[in-house]
Amino acid sequence: GAFADDIAAIQRLKAEKNAVILAHNYQTPEIFHCVADVTGDSLALAREAQNVEADVIVMAGVEFMAETAKLLNPSKTVLIPDSNAGCSLADSITGRDVRLMRERYPGLPVITYVNTSADVKAESDICCTSGNAARIVKSLGVDRVIMIPDEFLARNIAKETGVDVVTWKGHCEVHERFTPEEIRHWRDAYPGLVVLAHPECPPEVVAEADFSGSTAGMSDYVATADGRRVLLVTECSMSDNLAIQHPKVEFVRPCNLCPHMKLITLPAIRRALETMTTEVTIDPAVADRARLSIERMLAA
Ligand code: 13P
Ligand code: SF4
Repeated sequence: GAFADDIAAIQRLKAEKNAVILAHNYQTPEIFHCVADVTGDSLALAREAQNVEADVIVMAGVEFMAETAKLLNPSKTVLIPDSNAGCSLADSITGRDVRLMRERYPGLPVITYVNTSADVKAESDICCTSGNAARIVKSLGVDRVIMIPDEFLARNIAKETGVDVVTWKGHCEVHERFTPEEIRHWRDAYPGLVVLAHPECPPEVVAEADFSGSTAGMSDYVATADGRRVLLVTECSMSDNLAIQHPKVEFVRPCNLCPHMKLITLPAIRRALETMTTEVTIDPAVADRARLSIERMLAA
């Protein structure tokens, strides 16, 4: 098929360069199922990056994931197959914004979503992902925190934990587009539907769901859903990947595409390995402090 040539070339190049491919759950099925060595949510990819022994890590995902891998395993060559694969959340805030927030709310701990630049992580106390956000917030044992930059994640976690949050105006451009009306429409159209929503969705959307969790949390839920019909309120490739693994689950598939994730293709991965580009580097002036906030998260 159209993919076979690239898949064979990528497998050969991985062996030649001693490389592994880490792929996020939003990567397309031919990447997720045919060339990835490790797949997962942001948290799993960070943990796995730490343990890589190969010389080269190819991050089939977006820039912040590649940066996190580099921070956690700095002696490795980390490649991102398309250097324009950003994230609307990471683009919503700078290190300077975080410093100004600290001045405005002195004494409040700063919990920063991993979907941010190393610069922003360096100004933070601790990171979180969608998979551990509630646990990280509770681990601090305070009744008010700064949680940035995802306004919706922060509000969803505030609701779940009872901890008051000061947040930012960042949104995921994929998840902010879902509406509660849309979810109600799909429930009416598909009786018995189980609705799973990512916590980057607006709180009004999460309120319409049966379950909310990270992409790994949604995967785990689907693994127990044989014979059911499910709607994953998230990026399109999630259902495509899970449908291959779970033929007995019926997937209702309205979804939104992430244009950043979709920049990563088989030809882009092949080119990255052939040319060993683009290599991810982190400004040494921020690397140690950024690493600390990720390591605190992993230890919490
Ligand atoms: P998780 O896979 O950690 O749930 O993150 C979702 C996401 O939007 C990453 O870009
Ligand atoms: Fe960023 Fe949203 Fe795309 Fe994830 S899905 S990379 S949070 S824009």
